[in-house]
Amino acid sequence: MRVFVVGASGAIGTRLVPQLIDAGHEVIGTSRSAAGAKRVRALGAKPVALDLLDGRAVRKAILASEPEAIVHQATDLSNVGNLKHFDRTFAQTNRLRTEGIDTLLAAARETGVRHFVAQSYASARYVREGGWVKSENAPLDPTPVPSARESQAAMRHVDEAVAGAGGIALRYGVFYGAANDGLIEPVRKRQFPIVGDGAGVWSWIHLDDAAAATVLALERGKAGIYHVVDDEPAPVREWLPVLAEALGAKPPRRVPRWLARLLAGEAVVVMSTESRGASNAKAKRELGWEPRYPSWREGFVAAYASAAPAERRKPDPAAGASHSPPRLST
Ligand SMILES: NC(=O)c1ccc[n+]([C@@H]2O[C@H](COP(=O)([O-])OP(=O)(O)OC[C@H]3O[C@@H](n4cnc5c(N)ncnc54)[C@H](OP(=O)(O)O)[C@@H]3O)[C@@H](O)[C@H]2O)c1
Repeated sequence: MRVFVVGASGAIGTRLVPQLIDAGHEVIGTSRSAAGAKRVRALGAKPVALDLLDGRAVRKAILASEPEAIVHQATDLSNVGNLKHFDRTFAQTNRLRTEGIDTLLAAARETGVRHFVAQSYASARYVREGGWVKSENAPLDPTPVPSARESQAAMRHVDEAVAGAGGIALRYGVFYGAANDGLIEPVRKRQFPIVGDGAGVWSWIHLDDAAAATVLALERGKAGIYHVVDDEPAPVREWLPVLAEALGAKPPRRVPRWLARLLAGEAVVVMSTESRGASNAKAKRELGWEPRYPSWREGFVAAYASAAPAERRKPDPAAGASHSPPRLST
């Protein structure tokens, strides 16, 4: 297929482009910068300069490229620091997930593009009651914290608009596997504590596994939503110490909910204590996808082995490790 990847120069895009090419697809990849275009070209794709928020330019680029498939992987999250004003921090990404999606879907309709895959998100989306691991058809959180309402609505828009148009929304886990992953510095500096009981469940995904599932979704997926997450959704209190150790950092601090609320805001408290994780059963069943890193336990070690100081490095614990994932329920 001739695939038009919006966000080809980014964290997931740069893993996706080579895997698409390896699978025999022709790729046109967007970036807004010359450096990004160079990266996209080096990966084997044809670079196109494009701002997704420029509707006319998007239409023109899609008309000119005549793709058979469009993949939306554009986000703007490089300055995510303090999440106290969550929607303010996510404002540009929210536009990419609303205006950006609508513009691309309109261009896809106009040009008869039949395959459409877009990036969505899995953790901290679902109703905060009942089982700790949800499937795709579980109800979303009906009462998101006020500071994150717009961001939750933008992700919901991706899911509904894309699936409604016959496309596929991939609710990815938290990405890891790159040298500049967002949590590395805060965890190293012990600025990412376990809040309260740390019961909030997160779903993780290695970037290479996310890219592999995206290729399969494009080739075999049915219209709708798929979780692209690893096999082991886990509470913050479990994965955070393992991540700290993999990075050669000291164990995370613990802070009470009231203090976290004061310093970091309610959204962070909810993510740390009430978030639900996601099951990958549907993606495995329908896409025939198997993650190369079934759990963050071995994934963190593999991803960050060279990042930890030599004296703190441990061998990969994945070989023969056994652990039971939380029970699936919706
Ligand atoms: N599920 C997750 O956990 C998740 C999801 C998203 C991001 N992240 C993480 O957040 C960190 C920062 O991510 P990021 O989103 O800032 O950067 P990124 O992942 O490196 O890339 C974002 C991509 O979106 C493109 N983009 C941004 N604004 C655009 C626009 N207006 N029009 C067209 N394309 C646009 C960028 O292209 P340009 O070359 O034009 O800049 C780039 O290709 C990364 O570590 C990433 O892994 C995690």
